Amino acid sequence: MLQGFFEWLQATSLAVTIGESWFPYVESVHVVCLAAVAGTIFTVDARLLGFASRQLRVSYMSAQLLPWTWGAFTGAVITGLLMFMGNATTYAANTPFRIKLVLLLLAGINMLYFQFVTFRTVDKWDTDMPVPAARVAGGLSIGLWCGVIGFGRWIGFV
Ligand code: HEM
Repeated sequence: MLQGFFEWLQATSLAVTIGESWFPYVESVHVVCLAAVAGTIFTVDARLLGFASRQLRVSYMSAQLLPWTWGAFTGAVITGLLMFMGNATTYAANTPFRIKLVLLLLAGINMLYFQFVTFRTVDKWDTDMPVPAARVAGGLSIGLWCGVIGFGRWIGFV
């Protein structure tokens, strides 16, 4: 059933237009968005791990950068879906693409757990070295997002 849906999706006029002419532009915007996602997330992760910005409060950095992260993430998802539409059956069978989506889901779960559980005690460690749970979240985040980017790049080679 999914196969039938993917065949229908890539035959739509929008998908054909992307496949025939828009792909390089869409992928360029995808790369800019993912760079902004990774850049803002790694900046906060470096603070959580105590590597950088120790003079800045974690809550301040998060409040300043999170809107950019979510904005860029929305752009990455929209452009990613547009590229996917252009060649849906091929990407759906592409192992690096599948691994990338799993890592993306895990990175999202890690971020949500940090935001809604660990971050609730931020007033106790906002100006100091973050608690172990926050450091684990920062380290996991860097690892998972590097995986998303690495497998994202690998899609085109398979
Ligand atoms: C913020 C999350 C994302 C990141 C960090 C990311 C990362 C990447 C990277 C690094 C590339 C290779 C770009 C290049 O070197 O040209 C890529 C390509 C791609 N991504 Fe994403 N991506 C994200 C979200 C998504 C989503 C949600 C989808 C679709 C559901 C998606 C679908 C694709 C596709 C189809 C390609 C093109 C592969 C090709 O043919 O070269 N991406 N992505």
